[in-house]
Amino acid sequence: MTNTPEKMSGTSLDIAADKRERLKQIFPTVFTETVDATGKLVESMDFEKLKAELGTFTDLFEIRRERYGMDWPGKKEALKLIQTVSTATLKPCREESVNFDTTENLFIEGDNLEVLKLLQKSYYGKVKMIYIDPPYNTGNEFIYPDNFSETLETYLEYAGLVDGDGKKFSTNTANEGRFHTKWMNMMYPRLYLARNLLRDDGVIFISIDDNEVSNLKKVCDEVFGEENFEALISWRRRHNQPNDGTKMIAKVAEQIIVYSKHSAILKELKSYYGIPLSESRRSDYRNPDHDKRGPWATNPWKAAVGRGGSAYKLTTPTGKVFNETWYGNIETFNLLLADNRVHWTDGGNGFPRIKIFLQEAEEKGQPAINFLTHDEFGSNQDGSAELGSLFGVEGIFDNPKPVKLISAFGKIATKGTDIILDFFAGSGTTAHAALDLNKHDNGNRKFIMVQLPEPCTEDSEAFKAGHKTIADIGKERIRRVIKKLEAEQNGKLPFDNASPQDRGFKVLKLDKSNFKQWQSLPPDTTPETLVKQLKLFIDHIDPKARPEDLLYEILIKAGFPPSEQIESQTLAGKTVYSIAGGGLLLCLEDKVSAELINAVAEAEPMQFICLDAAFGGNDQLKANTVQTFAARNMGKEKHNQTVFKTV
Ligand SMILES: C[S@@+](CC[C@H](N)C(=O)[O-])C[C@H]1O[C@@H](n2cnc3c(N)ncnc32)[C@H](O)[C@@H]1O
Repeated sequence: MTNTPEKMSGTSLDIAADKRERLKQIFPTVFTETVDATGKLVESMDFEKLKAELGTFTDLFEIRRERYGMDWPGKKEALKLIQTVSTATLKPCREESVNFDTTENLFIEGDNLEVLKLLQKSYYGKVKMIYIDPPYNTGNEFIYPDNFSETLETYLEYAGLVDGDGKKFSTNTANEGRFHTKWMNMMYPRLYLARNLLRDDGVIFISIDDNEVSNLKKVCDEVFGEENFEALISWRRRHNQPNDGTKMIAKVAEQIIVYSKHSAILKELKSYYGIPLSESRRSDYRNPDHDKRGPWATNPWKAAVGRGGSAYKLTTPTGKVFNETWYGNIETFNLLLADNRVHWTDGGNGFPRIKIFLQEAEEKGQPAINFLTHDEFGSNQDGSAELGSLFGVEGIFDNPKPVKLISAFGKIATKGTDIILDFFAGSGTTAHAALDLNKHDNGNRKFIMVQLPEPCTEDSEAFKAGHKTIADIGKERIRRVIKKLEAEQNGKLPFDNASPQDRGFKVLKLDKSNFKQWQSLPPDTTPETLVKQLKLFIDHIDPKARPEDLLYEILIKAGFPPSEQIESQTLAGKTVYSIAGGGLLLCLEDKVSAELINAVAEAEPMQFICLDAAFGGNDQLKANTVQTFAARNMGKEKHNQTVFKTV
């Protein structure tokens, strides 16, 4: 047994290693260990054995090659981007947050590729719905310039956090080479990482228009699988008819592509729901008999051919006898009759139909369809007007989506405390929709917004109103929505028996690691700089880092969501942070003692992490700590053991 504690990994999830591990669990026999030319033990995989294990699917590789033949310049680099881990961190920003200590909603400022990587450990398989509205590649938008070998440095330079070497951060214009592939290379790794975050019954909605719809569909078929394609929705986004004679067909609509993570699981769990009733559907509900349960419409009781049911005789109020096949049995019919839920057609001489009350229908909603009109789901103008009325100024942000549209997606795919993610958040319409939906159906959905601090130009309305970046607009919008909802509620809860809803959000900002040993070095670092850098690592914490910065970095890298509530407690006279109800105990004190170690071991957390420097070179204490936890873990199942790590 070793006497040295495990060192904490400073990176995001290693996607390739994680996949190998999963494969190994299913097919342990296809992995073999061999010795390479340098005498090192290396692991390899026997593809022939894997084919044999797959039995009748031995030609799967050929089939895949034919089916997913999509290739484009730069795709290999994009794949490498997925596999490159991130060493970055998310720094908490209390001043810009609302209800920082209690909220589980997040607004993350940064490049979404790096952020999606950082969320892999903590949100893997947890998100119920993703909505994104990426740049459509119209020829005058900024497409984020991922740089395979230095993604974080590119971001820090973009965000003005370091002086750079003058990289080009300009719009993607149609006359540039690789106009489409640049966009696909930007989307592909992000979609891939986003899919990992979806729950098995999770769904993604992606807004797009004619420019890239066909490319997006193909990329999504590859990332999500053709079998998980759910719909291509058309949304009429403008109500006025454009009078542009230069176009044969004027554009009033755009699309939303919908994929599920596993269509079969989504259907089996039925975790999709109806949308609000349309006006025309509502007008079908009347109350001719003044039923005190309110307006009603009817459904047939006579079973359609081939739809099952049971045969028996029914007598109408006028004495006519029908011997037919009905949807339910006679006992159910008699119960409905006694409850005044049967409507006899033809003035009591025709088939019976069953009353469906408007209130029940509204709760259930109507099944969503793939054609959305501007009057029911809002238009671009509505989106701009909503933002304008919140900010008291028009033109703060171009073409925000209308809240009704995103709310409809939220209603289709989520309920309760489901998590909604939008990693092209813009002005934050998705957060607005989540808060609004919760208000209306007493849900407590959580949101995660990710947005670049894309600068607002000095002549823009946003800049004039004091918003320097689009991320600033998004944060300010959510603050204003929260204020508005609270004011409307006026201290009361929206429903009887309602529990308070999460009306807050935590702001986190992408930045380089607080731990110097985890900061990534540019690939062209010279040996001299490396030596200098290594000397710096002796005192390995960034002197500018606040304790809360360290806390959040360790939390995220240990695989806990940054939305987790953190409690500070004193153990053996030292401050220890308790995360996830004591699952993780974290000590950032610069000295630890044997008493503290015993107290932590007594608390039996799943993980204990402290600073390596806190042992002050006392190797004996370090070794004793390892032994203390090892002794405690003896005889316990792995999931009940305490993992001890240092950083
Ligand atoms: C079309 S807008 C989204 C609008 C949003 N749906 C709304 O209703 O306000 C796309 C946003 O994605 C942001 N964006 C582009 N590339 C990004 C990246 N790499 N990381 C994070 N955000 C990005 C842009 O700054 C822009 O604000």
